[in-house]
Formats: sequence, structure tokens, C-alpha cells
Amino acid sequence: MHMSEEELIKEAYEARKMAYAPYSGFRVGAALLGKSGKVYRGCNIENAAYSPTNCAERTAVFKAVSEGETEFEAIAIVGDGDDYLSPCGVCRQVLAEFVQPENFFVIMVGKDYDYQKATLLELFPASFSKNFLEKD
Ligand code: THU
Repeated sequence: MHMSEEELIKEAYEARKMAYAPYSGFRVGAALLGKSGKVYRGCNIENAAYSPTNCAERTAVFKAVSEGETEFEAIAIVGDGDDYLSPCGVCRQVLAEFVQPENFFVIMVGKDYDYQKATLLELFPASFSKNFLEKD
């Protein structure tokens, strides 16, 4: 990795400060580490119509891709509360588009820098991917 897990977690805590979560009150921050070594911060951004809400992880991915980075090493995610923040299914699918699931690490932060680490393959096995779209 280009940086330590603790350094990436610190970025996720910083990202959480920008959360816009007036409806749920649940703030989430994510820090996505690109293969270039650059970190993309994301926060959840809610909406009065609810369904347009964007999770912190997707905010980070979309920021990175829109800036030209499409290869990633890891993501750290921190929510409010003490539970290890586990990414939602939609975010797992979005991450799977851009990474090799067995080589990409999801760092799920709990209380005070305590974390659990898993590969995306462990969290999201047998996923649908672009391989299915290839015609014979
Ligand atoms: N949320 C995230 O940002 N990431 C997740 O992985 C889970 C949920 C946000 C969406 C919503 O703004 C709030 O947390 C409550 O669901």
C-alpha cells in the first residue's frame, strides 16, 4: 500500500466532517486510495427526496474516476457510532466495476481507529461484472 491503514483511516475521519446528512443524522466518510498514491475523500450527501442520496464510498469513487484515476488499492470507511462500517450493496457493486475484488481491501472502521479488513471478494462474492456482457 502507498500509505498505512491508519493514515487512510485518518483521511476517512476528515472526509466524514463534510457529510451532508440532515435526514438520517448518520455521517459517513470514505477515503479511497488510488494506485497513483492519491487519496480521494468522499462523504454521504443526502437529499430531501431521499433516493438521490449518495453514499460516502460512491462519492469517493466518482470523484476519482472523474479526475482520471480508475485503479485503486483500498478504501477506508467510517460512520457514526461504534460499529464497523460495512459498505452497502450498491457501493460494493460500484467498487467492483473498477477493482480486482481479490486484491482490493475494504477497511471498515469502528471505534477510535479500530477496524476490520476484508477483500472486496470476501464482502461481495459471485458479483455481476462486465465479463457477463462479453458475447461469444
Ligand atoms: N451510507 C453511506 O454513506 N455508506 C454506507 O455504506 C452505508 C450508508 C449513508 C447513506 C445515508 O446517508 C446514511 O448513511 C444512512 O443510511
